[in-house]
Amino acid sequence: MRKNLISFDDVTKEEMQEILDITQYIKDKQKRGELYEPLKKKTLGLIFQKPSTRTRVSFDAGMFQLGGKAIILNLADLQLSRGESIEDTARVLSRYMDGMVIRGEHRFLAGLAKNSTIPVINGLTEKFHPCQILSDLFTIKERGMEPKGLKVVFVGDGNNVCQSLMQGAAKFGMNMVFTGPEGYEPDGKILKQTVAEAKKNGGSIKIEYDPEKAVREADVIYTDTWVSMGQEKEEAARVKAFRLFQVNAKLLKKAKQDCMIMHCLPAHRGQEITSEVLDGKQSVVWDQAENRLHTQKAVLMLWLSK
Ligand code: CP
Ligand code: NVA
Repeated sequence: MRKNLISFDDVTKEEMQEILDITQYIKDKQKRGELYEPLKKKTLGLIFQKPSTRTRVSFDAGMFQLGGKAIILNLADLQLSRGESIEDTARVLSRYMDGMVIRGEHRFLAGLAKNSTIPVINGLTEKFHPCQILSDLFTIKERGMEPKGLKVVFVGDGNNVCQSLMQGAAKFGMNMVFTGPEGYEPDGKILKQTVAEAKKNGGSIKIEYDPEKAVREADVIYTDTWVSMGQEKEEAARVKAFRLFQVNAKLLKKAKQDCMIMHCLPAHRGQEITSEVLDGKQSVVWDQAENRLHTQKAVLMLWLSK
């Protein structure tokens, strides 16, 4: 039985494919203006320890569009903020709702998941961001590209978005390259696990410290902020460390001519990406953002309807 969606360790490739197929079905229905409310009377809690625009609003709007209700649970308004334990909070919330989306520290999410009897969906932790990557895989397919064998180069910090991309790439047999400064690579255990899984599925995951070499023959270049939420104090050091890893016109020239540009957003124009590239014709970032809504609705349907 499907319980949580904390990382792609929780799903098979077939289940991910099912999510993408349902996404297409839901998106088509919505574009035709058809009412589709399979989650009537279902409730979803949204607990966010960190800011969010796309994840929060698309889950809230998505739940409403599917006929259900989302409840935004501000941390400051919960008894958690006065010391009620994560365990007790999880037990009680499980009696009221059909699922929860959590954004925050991985430990916090894991604690709630462990003590919940309803599905817990990861809305981003410092380790993973699976909902983002579902939207990205859908966007890649929507653009007529087959993930298997595709060369996807992640330029930047090897944390949450990158690590979920690695897990997704491994399952779909992509050829993924990480490029970023030394010291900011993805977690060694996740790297080892995804390298082995990618190989089994006919793909590969590699590290290349030279960004120009890394993007050679790239079909997709993907980037994310150099300074993730919670790392604000490290900003100066990070901007210095990542300065050679900007996605700009010069770097884009080294990739395939029609290489697609992806970014999970929010973007920091002039840092990890230039406006010229973000707003350029190879960029699909606004479709990626829109598709968060449709992929999340598919996840909600699958996780909450049981
Ligand atoms: N990409 C993403 O998760 O955006 P938010 O932080 O706005 O949710
Ligand atoms: N790596 C970024 C992703 C934002 C969606 C962060 O954690 O802030």
